[in-house]
Amino acid sequence: MTHRHLRAALAASLCLAACSRATSTASVSGTPKDQGLKDTFRSAFLVGVAIAPKQFEELDVANAALVKREFNTISPENVLKWVIVHPQPDRYDFAPADKYVAFGERNGMFIIGHTLVWHSQVPAWVFQDAQGQPLTRDALLARMKDHIQTVVGRYKGRIKGWDVVNEALNEDGTLRETQWMKIIGPDYIAKAFQFAHEADPAAELYYNDYNLDYAAKRDGAVRLVKSLLDQGIPVKAIGSQEHLKLTTPSAAAVDSSIKAFAALGVHVNMTELDIDLLPPATRNTGADVSLRAGPSPSLNPWAAGLPDSMQTKLARRYQDLFRVYMANKDAIDRVTFWGVSDGDSWLNGWPVPGRTSYPLLFDRQLGKKAAYEAVSEVAKEPRVVP
Ligand code: XIL
Repeated sequence: MTHRHLRAALAASLCLAACSRATSTASVSGTPKDQGLKDTFRSAFLVGVAIAPKQFEELDVANAALVKREFNTISPENVLKWVIVHPQPDRYDFAPADKYVAFGERNGMFIIGHTLVWHSQVPAWVFQDAQGQPLTRDALLARMKDHIQTVVGRYKGRIKGWDVVNEALNEDGTLRETQWMKIIGPDYIAKAFQFAHEADPAAELYYNDYNLDYAAKRDGAVRLVKSLLDQGIPVKAIGSQEHLKLTTPSAAAVDSSIKAFAALGVHVNMTELDIDLLPPATRNTGADVSLRAGPSPSLNPWAAGLPDSMQTKLARRYQDLFRVYMANKDAIDRVTFWGVSDGDSWLNGWPVPGRTSYPLLFDRQLGKKAAYEAVSEVAKEPRVVP
């Protein structure tokens, strides 16, 4: 079956359930060619994507055009991480980030900053003095403040929301023993939010992490954000990365986490959505970027193409998730995919280098996959009004 036929067949089969209940607004065909996911979900939430120079410098014209057609919010896949934007103590390199922000402004997009305080993609010097000795608490706080004020300040009023702290939690919900934590102590998180708020009082501030659909870590995020709110820190939303597998976590677990976060009075961003179909290379379920595993043919089963059966499973999984997102649309501000097409995904290189991964809605030729149609269907389904 060709992709086109598969998509049509899948759309028809998925429609059996949805379209029999459809109202007159649920027209399946007739979507104008220039409309994208941003239009499909306009009344629910923003739809976004993480981009790299390939897109924001328009080095790949077709790929950049797809971003403009489909998405109304962007995240920087790498260019605002510390190691890129502030590689040496006295040197910031804003050239790539400036181009990222300019692309978003040219296209009227909601521009996200990612990320200010994280334990990965941060140079070792950040935590050391000129002699290579660990910094004192005060010195590291001063360095953090300088970084946040410089970076957030540069894009004040233009970058609308920041992932202030990324991945501060262990899987059991306790605070991760990062260098930030060891040197400053647990209040490094509150301090980072305070510095960001001072630098741009109008910017939305987020706490972002992976595996937040697992109960212990979800509860840790609830405790952490509650304590920030209790201190008067304006956390706008929790970002749930949503680096998911085909069957885990369950859609019900995703639903529970959204509701737990919304109950705190904050919004929820689905910030880095992708669905990894490939065989697990490690026992770890998360998105720890430092994980590495060796290549092996059994870990890369679909180098020549994804079987139709898997394409259908991916479509159904995406559809289940988008049903949960739509049911919680009042709590969700945006759903952002981590990469444009399958060829762009970080999952081709992590945690095993050189694999052929299929985690997104667009294939390597930038065509819409069955999962794209499946997701679009959800917007047309009648909503159950609570
Ligand atoms: C990833 C990028 O996609 C890769 O290009 C980079 O090599 C490593 O980082 N969680 C995050 C993102 O918050 O910043 C990570 O992005 C993926 C996991």
